[in-house]
Amino acid sequence: MSDLMRFSVAMPEELLMQFDNLVARRGLAKNRSEVIRDLVRDALVDEEWDDPDQEIVGTLTIVFSHHASDLQNKLDQIQHSHHDKIIAAMHIHLDAHNCLEVVAMRGRSDEVRAIAESVLGVKGVKHGRLTSTTTGRFL
Ligand code: NI
Repeated sequence: MSDLMRFSVAMPEELLMQFDNLVARRGLAKNRSEVIRDLVRDALVDEEWDDPDQEIVGTLTIVFSHHASDLQNKLDQIQHSHHDKIIAAMHIHLDAHNCLEVVAMRGRSDEVRAIAESVLGVKGVKHGRLTSTTTGRFL
């Protein structure tokens, strides 16, 4: 623990109570300090995404019906034309009609966003969300 630097934080009581509720929701394995470190790392990942020169990681999750005409072909086409940014893809058959795909991407944030937007723009995609995360190298 000797590599940890300590500092104290002044916080309004109401905000501190809300913060302690957040700490409690995260469970017994994390205390106030751990949760503050998580929040700082979360802010730093947001900054990585704001920096166009930074390599980031993102996961795109989409739900669609495989009955929609040509949809799977279009999704595959987009993924193949960006194979250098797409590091993995997982396809799950949710039921007789619906599919879930999770696409993991690595590259510049503007490139990853653009790939996500083109996938989300395919007609027949029912829902989709891009989650921004990090290579972890600078955290
Ligand atoms: Ni499927």
